[in-house]
Amino acid sequence: MPDADPAPVALDLHDDQVTRLREALTAADFTVGAVGDLLGPDAHRALQRNETTPAARRTGDGSPLATLTRLFSLQRPVDVASADTALGGQAAALTGAGLLERDGDQVRALVDVRPYGDEDHDWWVVSDLTPGLDGDERRVAPDWVLGVSEASSSLAQLTVRTPVASALDLGTGCGVQSLHLSSHVERVVGTDLNPRAVTMARLTAELNGLAHDVREGDLLAPVAGERFDLLVTNPPFVISPGTDEKLVYRDSGLPGDEVVRRIVTGAPEHLNPGGWCQVLANWVHRADQPWQERVEGWLAPGGCDAWALEREAVDPATYVEMWLADAGLRGTPDWTRRYDAWLSWFEAERIEAVGFGWLSLRAAGRDVPRLRVEEWPYEVVAPLGPHVRAWGERVDLVAGATDDEVLAAHLVRAPGLAQESVGEPGATDPSTIVLRLPDGVRRARQADTVEAALVGALDGDLAVGQVLDALATLTDTDVSVLRTTYLPVVRELVDEGYLR
Ligand SMILES: C[S@@+](CC[C@H](N)C(=O)[O-])C[C@H]1O[C@@H](n2cnc3c(N)ncnc32)[C@H](O)[C@@H]1O
Repeated sequence: MPDADPAPVALDLHDDQVTRLREALTAADFTVGAVGDLLGPDAHRALQRNETTPAARRTGDGSPLATLTRLFSLQRPVDVASADTALGGQAAALTGAGLLERDGDQVRALVDVRPYGDEDHDWWVVSDLTPGLDGDERRVAPDWVLGVSEASSSLAQLTVRTPVASALDLGTGCGVQSLHLSSHVERVVGTDLNPRAVTMARLTAELNGLAHDVREGDLLAPVAGERFDLLVTNPPFVISPGTDEKLVYRDSGLPGDEVVRRIVTGAPEHLNPGGWCQVLANWVHRADQPWQERVEGWLAPGGCDAWALEREAVDPATYVEMWLADAGLRGTPDWTRRYDAWLSWFEAERIEAVGFGWLSLRAAGRDVPRLRVEEWPYEVVAPLGPHVRAWGERVDLVAGATDDEVLAAHLVRAPGLAQESVGEPGATDPSTIVLRLPDGVRRARQADTVEAALVGALDGDLAVGQVLDALATLTDTDVSVLRTTYLPVVRELVDEGYLR
């Protein structure tokens, strides 16, 4: 079995070195857009597949931008003189600080400094180097710090981005969520168990001129007694026996989905009134318990409104292969032993599948919190953050309204809502009617003719009660029966976003 890489060297940059590095990266235009233009689409896609050769052919002109891209993104050595120019005359200082390593008249990067951004910002993210470039060995040290991943982006697009005073980024890692938080939060606190991640998250913040408070510690322990308006986390959620080698970026060391349960049950006491907690999570499907019941059991005691959305469920074998491959074990003798042991543990625990999904909790302060737990494996339209926030507002609306208030409300169907009717050719009535939303989770629901007519008529002119009464006349149904039947449906339609 090949050994994992030795633990990386300490990273220790002084304030003035960080400032000069920022100035150099800015001067070189080391941004997502400029690097994309330099590489072109083919080399860029190849790099996303961990192949550096096409990109190397486009970064040989010695310009600061090409040098930085080669040094960090391609992990190729560059000559000291070019590195010195690109890094603002700091090649030697940054070598001493653990960012670079010198080899003769060349230097190579020991950590990744990666351009990153959203629509309004250009940032840099500091993390450990991506393993496995050009088919190289993929194994990493136990304290390896993950860079921006698909999971990071998934959480970032889910996050409710209301301007607020404070936010916690639990398991901050390279600090990517904190960067996003800095665009709408006054005070950002990050926490991580891994001291190396704490160093990198601090450096990410400082390099971007941000003053984030990054603390070392286990889960919520570093913020004991504190409350926030927003708590986001992409925790180490990999579901395993918790007995083998632990990679801190993905393994909590706790068995099963215990880490997610601890976060979700612990979060409510760290939320200000109205605050959100958003978690990227895995949970088990056990033979003796529907997953919905399990997740509800975590959510209900905290007293928050909560929306759990399962995006995918995978069988144990698929799950184990995914994470063994992620650990770089494919092709090693360890593969079969660990695969077998992991499956045995799944069997003993009666785990039949693992769900991947999103949890959004809101401290709504309701006597009877609203829990929405559902599977939605279909395409969604990112970002979902605005839709999660809108869900919270709609729950306020329906939960706070009496039946009379719902009947008196002038509700409006969602913009872009479509009706799809399916039936036999020539039939007077469709056999199936589906209402489909155009955005967010692109929710769809089957409707009967009364529900479809109700939604169709609600354009703000008439109140719900007036439309229901008209439909009672049209369908020759008793008014009170129709109201009793369709008032809960109206509440559902609001909850799900069909009516606003
Ligand atoms: C999947 S990474 C997420 C990194 C980053 N927040 C993102 O969104 O990409 C999980 C992070 O949780 C940290 N972590 C692991 N165990 C932890 C614990 N018990 N308490 C706090 N953080 C922990 C890891 O060091 C790692 O940085």
